[in-house]
Amino acid sequence: MILKIDHIGIAVRSLIESIPFYEKTLGLKCDKIEEILSQKVKIALFQIGEIHIELLEPTSDSSTIFKFIAKNGEGVHHIAYKTDDLQKELNNAKSNGCALINEVPIEGSNGKSIAFLHPNSTHGVLTEFC
Ligand code: CO
Repeated sequence: MILKIDHIGIAVRSLIESIPFYEKTLGLKCDKIEEILSQKVKIALFQIGEIHIELLEPTSDSSTIFKFIAKNGEGVHHIAYKTDDLQKELNNAKSNGCALINEVPIEGSNGKSIAFLHPNSTHGVLTEFC
């Protein structure tokens, strides 16, 4: 079952250059900066009520975030839904005809397990379950 929106992922060229907008202009607090080696990104998390904004900076030009920015520029990259049973949610999406990017969960930020559905199957929004 999907419980809530967990976070919104935003692709940025540079955390250092984008964090001041969220901290100074929006007045949010950066909870955490973390590098996720497996995904070749550095992320910054800002909590707003029950959800987070997740800024993603590529750490390599083979990162999917690097490719995303090269194609689309900076901007909203994915929406993540918190689920009480990730594998069950993936199986359900698959049985409803969704293409999965991850058949089994991978490691995300904050030690969470995550998996992505392909945007071709989700009306254009890269969708993450966590
Ligand atoms: Co995410």
